[in-house]
Amino acid sequence: MSQLIIFDTTMRDGEQSPGASMTKEEKVRIGKQLERMKVDVIEAGFAAASPGDFEAIHAVAAAVKESTVCSLARAQAGDIQKAGDAIKPAQRGRIHTFIATSPIHMQHKLRMSPDQVLAAAIDAVKFARTLTDDVEFSAEDAVRSEMDFLCRVFEAVINAGAKTINVPDTVGYSVPELWGERFRTLIERVPNADKVVWSTHCHNDLGMAVANSLAAVKAGARQVECTINGLGERAGNASLEEIVMAVRTRKDYFGVDTRIDATQIVPASKLISTITGYPVQPNKAVVGANAFAHESGIHQDGVLKHRETYEIMRAQDVGWHTNKLTLGKLSGRSAFRERLKELGIELESEVALNAAFKKFKELADKKHEIFDEDLHALVSDEAVTPEVEKYHLVSMIAHLETGESPYAKLVITDAGKELACEAQGAGPVDATFKALESVAHSNAELLLYSVNNVTEGTDSQGEVTVRLSKAGRVINGIGSDTDIVVASAKAYINALNKLAHGERMNPQTGD
Ligand code: KIV
Ligand code: ZN
Repeated sequence: MSQLIIFDTTMRDGEQSPGASMTKEEKVRIGKQLERMKVDVIEAGFAAASPGDFEAIHAVAAAVKESTVCSLARAQAGDIQKAGDAIKPAQRGRIHTFIATSPIHMQHKLRMSPDQVLAAAIDAVKFARTLTDDVEFSAEDAVRSEMDFLCRVFEAVINAGAKTINVPDTVGYSVPELWGERFRTLIERVPNADKVVWSTHCHNDLGMAVANSLAAVKAGARQVECTINGLGERAGNASLEEIVMAVRTRKDYFGVDTRIDATQIVPASKLISTITGYPVQPNKAVVGANAFAHESGIHQDGVLKHRETYEIMRAQDVGWHTNKLTLGKLSGRSAFRERLKELGIELESEVALNAAFKKFKELADKKHEIFDEDLHALVSDEAVTPEVEKYHLVSMIAHLETGESPYAKLVITDAGKELACEAQGAGPVDATFKALESVAHSNAELLLYSVNNVTEGTDSQGEVTVRLSKAGRVINGIGSDTDIVVASAKAYINALNKLAHGERMNPQTGD
């Protein structure tokens, strides 16, 4: 059976979602999870976006052994050089270079003629090939590009040495029949089409990213670019879990399979949601909390008599119910360190490990059973990522009494200096945020506040996401604790710390 290459771009296109930026340590953790899941290619970021992005790709390239690690680069020598340097430690490294080919992008965004775009594409691929043998070329906005020009560009970049040709529906405009037709035409018309891997990259603006990707597979595409949970700008990218389970469940129709270890899908989904602060909707296919819940009596009866009456996949095959009880109250430092290592969590210093271990002991006192999800939430917490930490929570009191006005009193450090603050509010969370604002003066706008449970039960940690916007920048702060008011304070502080941190560039808009 033919193999489909799974190219995960959660850490690049997914990271372009508002507020979803990831630290180096988080990217290494995600990279290890994607490797465990047997993803073929991991796009770890856009090296030219910022020095931090470069470092993160470099660290993923050093940590991941089994998957190819890739960096995006615009069709410019400077970007390509940075991408080449960032992937240097990888066992297998790829440079993914792109330029827009649609009339609207060439005229209004690039202000380049078609001939200039063609020349830039050829130069980019030739230069990238001097740095690695594995070069992918994308024609941005291929969906709105003229077929004759697209064929010319693809023929030229194949001659220049590109090994993978990616055809993006950048704006989520296509429909399955047309997208399949586009691939059939390209594969038929472009000389040497059989010498390269054809790749599809779909956005979900009209809710058809997965359907379009699958239509491309049916028409001959052998690489799909996708993200965990469908994370991505605007309405997101094609969901990895849906693509993988669609071709696996309907092998009879698609005639392809992937190398993916599907039991790692749900852990990957939870990890991405914890790190980015983007919760998964309950009715999301494969990874939503209700995806395998049979509520209605008729369905339950059918499932109990014979599972296949209503289920086409098994929950355990995609990693549900496999969350391991990993550690408990009595676990020692070396068991803790070992489990973190198995999860791909490499804390940079003994100080960070000690801080994490102390937090683990505090949590184990309250919660007794500690799962992998708890460990991920614990190290995602602001206290263990000192490189993005200006503010730090020392202690807090939040008071709630029927008939009384709720208030919060906090002690935080600002660059090591202790500050006390307090405020009243509509509730303890509102009071906490007002108290923090009274000393931080960020004047940021609160776009989102949400709470989710990390594991099951009322003793679960609550995971809070706070999305702030300031001067056009959007960031997500995450915090977790068995007390959701404390989790809220941590999330707000995490958001303030990220606001105080440097900016990065979007590869497509240049902003
Ligand atoms: O959507 C798109 O066109 C992209 C390219 C950079 C591949 O993400
Ligand atoms: Zn994209």
